[in-house]
Amino acid sequence: MRYGVVAEKLGHSFSPEIHAMIGDYDYELCELSRADFTRFMEKRDFLGINVTIPYKQAVIPFLDRIDDTARAIGAVNTIVNRNGQLTGYNTDLDGLTRLIRRIGLDLRGKKVLIPGTGGTSRTASYAAEKLSAREVFRISRTGREGSLSYEEALRDHADAEIILNTTPCGMFPRPAEQPLSLESFTRLEGVADAIYNPLRSRLVLDARSRGIPAEGGLYMLVAQAVRASELFLNMSYPDDLTDQIYDRILRRKENLVLIGMPGSGKSAVGKILTETTGKPLADTDQLIVEKAGKSIPEIFREDGEPAFRDLESEIIRELSLQGGQVISTGGGAVLRPENVTLLRQNGRLFWLDRAPDSLVPTDDRPLADTAAKMKQLYQEREPVYRASADMIIPVFGTPEDTASLILQQ
Ligand code: S3P
Repeated sequence: MRYGVVAEKLGHSFSPEIHAMIGDYDYELCELSRADFTRFMEKRDFLGINVTIPYKQAVIPFLDRIDDTARAIGAVNTIVNRNGQLTGYNTDLDGLTRLIRRIGLDLRGKKVLIPGTGGTSRTASYAAEKLSAREVFRISRTGREGSLSYEEALRDHADAEIILNTTPCGMFPRPAEQPLSLESFTRLEGVADAIYNPLRSRLVLDARSRGIPAEGGLYMLVAQAVRASELFLNMSYPDDLTDQIYDRILRRKENLVLIGMPGSGKSAVGKILTETTGKPLADTDQLIVEKAGKSIPEIFREDGEPAFRDLESEIIRELSLQGGQVISTGGGAVLRPENVTLLRQNGRLFWLDRAPDSLVPTDDRPLADTAAKMKQLYQEREPVYRASADMIIPVFGTPEDTASLILQQ
């Protein structure tokens, strides 16, 4: 291996894709057990690597040199091999600092809480101190290394202004978890979360629902990779490279989720979006029919609407674990708030808002098989669609017109 990333588990890493966008070199994933990690580091058969969980501290004894910042942090995520001599750096610090700046957070004089006690938590503490935070506390379940327990944090530090999450709590494949609820934090000004898969953790969505600026870790991931690549290749890139790559990778990873009334054109628009973006199409109604082995009118007739909704939630839970798809939902998919949260974690929700008069009832739609039912349904649901949507797309032309409105966003 010349360049790559080393960790114990790497199932969902975005790093090879990011490095492929940065430059013309191969960047590999390398999963190593602890014993293999020792052998790998002793052999030094690489030019530049990133290391991640759980080796950011364990790697230090194998290095010949360690840059001052990485030493002060006590964690290394980038190693460059120069003529057999290994030097360790911490580019997570550049990544996190840029993420904090991007969210627009000002840490000066603030109380900062950092869930987590691993390598990234050390980087976050260092960043917070460098940015002149007033007080910085790490939080863990065990209270180790002088950290607070979650109970103490909630009891004594509910006046914290900034939260920087460095735990894997809420990461794929358990996106519904959250390290702490934000309810008690009445003075909260911002949240940065190192988790990038899902793109928006529960913590991030919880903050945003309270009007608090918050972002996940994708931007941090891209920024640390750009800085690592500069060190690998001993060159520097234009300052906006991180933003450019972030936009590209976000567009690639995000799901385009179509919501709206029966007959508003979700399926037709979904097909066009799939053809133009190359993202695969998932149609929740179709998946429900496959799973149930019968048609939607049959499910409603034989099992009832609640059974249909349970199947729908199950399909949405499965689909929203993955990014990079076009998801066309059934008209009632957003009625359960949990479905909306799941869809938002990796997706952007577009409401195809078509005027109720032009929605055509059909026999295969048990809740919308007459014009009267359709009208009634629109009235009930209009506020739900509005509240769920990231973007409202007025539907007046052909499905092609609607699809191109979405792609312009
Ligand atoms: C429903 C809409 C349908 C289908 C089911 C229930 C609804 O999907 O999921 O009949 O509650 O609005 P379409 O919106 O694709 O017709």
